[in-house]
Amino acid sequence: MIRHLLSGADLDADTATQILDTAAEMATVAGREVKKLPALRGRTVVNLFYEDSTRTRISFEAAAKRLSADVINFSAKGSSVTKGESLKDTALTLQAMGADAVVVRHPASGAPHRLANWVDGSVVNAGDGTHEHPTQALLDAYTMRARLGRLAGLHVAIVGDVLHSRVARSNVLLLSTLGAKVTLVGPPTLIPVDWAARAGAAPAVTDAGPAAGSHPGTDVCYDLDAVLPGVDVVMMLRVQRERMNDSYFPSAREYARRYGLDGPRMRRLPEHAIVMHPGPMNRGMEITPEVADSPRSTIVEQVANGVSVRMAVLYLLLGGNNR
Ligand code: NCD
Repeated sequence: MIRHLLSGADLDADTATQILDTAAEMATVAGREVKKLPALRGRTVVNLFYEDSTRTRISFEAAAKRLSADVINFSAKGSSVTKGESLKDTALTLQAMGADAVVVRHPASGAPHRLANWVDGSVVNAGDGTHEHPTQALLDAYTMRARLGRLAGLHVAIVGDVLHSRVARSNVLLLSTLGAKVTLVGPPTLIPVDWAARAGAAPAVTDAGPAAGSHPGTDVCYDLDAVLPGVDVVMMLRVQRERMNDSYFPSAREYARRYGLDGPRMRRLPEHAIVMHPGPMNRGMEITPEVADSPRSTIVEQVANGVSVRMAVLYLLLGGNNR
């Protein structure tokens, strides 16, 4: 097993599949009256959150507690970070407390990689800037496999603000490792230029974010309606206004008209296709309530699956089997 989980690229097909299979076993615990396993008794998991989070923070906490670990929740607000303490000094404090795993969310891309050099325990990236969010990609893959029975050969459209999305980046990496085909869909200003150029689409003129590299089986399309009839999965992304210091599209109304998933568009999907969203949603912008609350939507399942997947990640990283 790997020591840290920092990127979707840390996972080869065998390791990713082992995590998904272990998550399926962990899911049975959720159905029990006593939702607890003794696997990580005596181990300490620190949740280090420098950025707001609802689902990810709660599900890592639930996952660690279901495995009987001691959990310390640290949020930057109310800590010495507001007095100017550096990430390194915070890391040394965690080290002194004997953290076996540090789950970190940070607004700076790359912060978890730095942290991994300073602590002896395992580091799990719970979202760093616009870079990566590997456990989200794992729970998305788990949800697709649970609903559609396989990952290899699936066609997944990832739609919207790809440029600012760590969820999209980690999904592209993991899904291509697991044999799915990904089409990135959005306005040219919100697709990273290098991805668009490598996929053969005309590159947009934009102050694009970090470079992403090319991935087998990934292409780009600016027309949502053209893509919908041929996909098995459509994953809608939140428009991340907090990361935009410029205007990337004319208006919210215009964005919704071209790239929002509404009822008529959903009905153009094949019968079996599912609709995903990592949350939090801008209802009425990238997705309408009719779609978000429809039986095709896996949004609530994704949250439940997030706990099982994070249990599997913590269990395997902390030596559930071989450490
Ligand atoms: C995502 C995140 O924070 O990266 N949400 C999540 O973890 N469930 C996506 C987002 O903020 O839009």
